[in-house]
Amino acid sequence: MWARVLAEIERFDSADKILLSSPMWNYSVPYKLKHYLDLLMQPLVTFGYNPETMEHFGMLRNRPVQFILTRSSVPPGDFRDFQLPYLKFAFDCMGLRDVSLLTAWRTTQPTAELREQYVANFEDEAREAARLFATKPS
Ligand SMILES: Cc1cc2nc3c(=O)[nH]c(=O)nc-3n(C[C@H](O)[C@H](O)[C@H](O)COP(=O)(O)O)c2cc1C
Repeated sequence: MWARVLAEIERFDSADKILLSSPMWNYSVPYKLKHYLDLLMQPLVTFGYNPETMEHFGMLRNRPVQFILTRSSVPPGDFRDFQLPYLKFAFDCMGLRDVSLLTAWRTTQPTAELREQYVANFEDEAREAARLFATKPS
């Protein structure tokens, strides 16, 4: 089992850039993503710590990370947002600090027309984020 965990970490670490896309589930991340991060976040493999102060430091090489987060109604930074702070901290803990954020936070709209309008507006933002992410040096 440990060999499989290390293989998963190796696969993650072999990426030049990391793109993570996730919906919000009950104000946090879906359990499958939590499980995946629990596999990746291994002491003395992806993060280390000072045993006296218990300060943590990342052990993976820093590289560009793009989060694409979706929610039906919770704006980024809202007090109910346990998705973004958790993901940012988990990546930071492993040494991945160069995180760009794209958030669609109103995926539920009262009418189909408003939903289409929201998607159309979001598309411009998404294209710009994709352009910036693609041109970031890894
Ligand atoms: C199980 C479940 C829990 C959800 N919890 C939240 C939530 O806490 N807050 C929120 O704004 N949206 C919540 N949503 C809405 C999703 O975040 C939203 O539908 C998703 O971001 C849009 O992507 P989708 O096409 O995969 O549904 C939830 C959706 C599901 C299925």
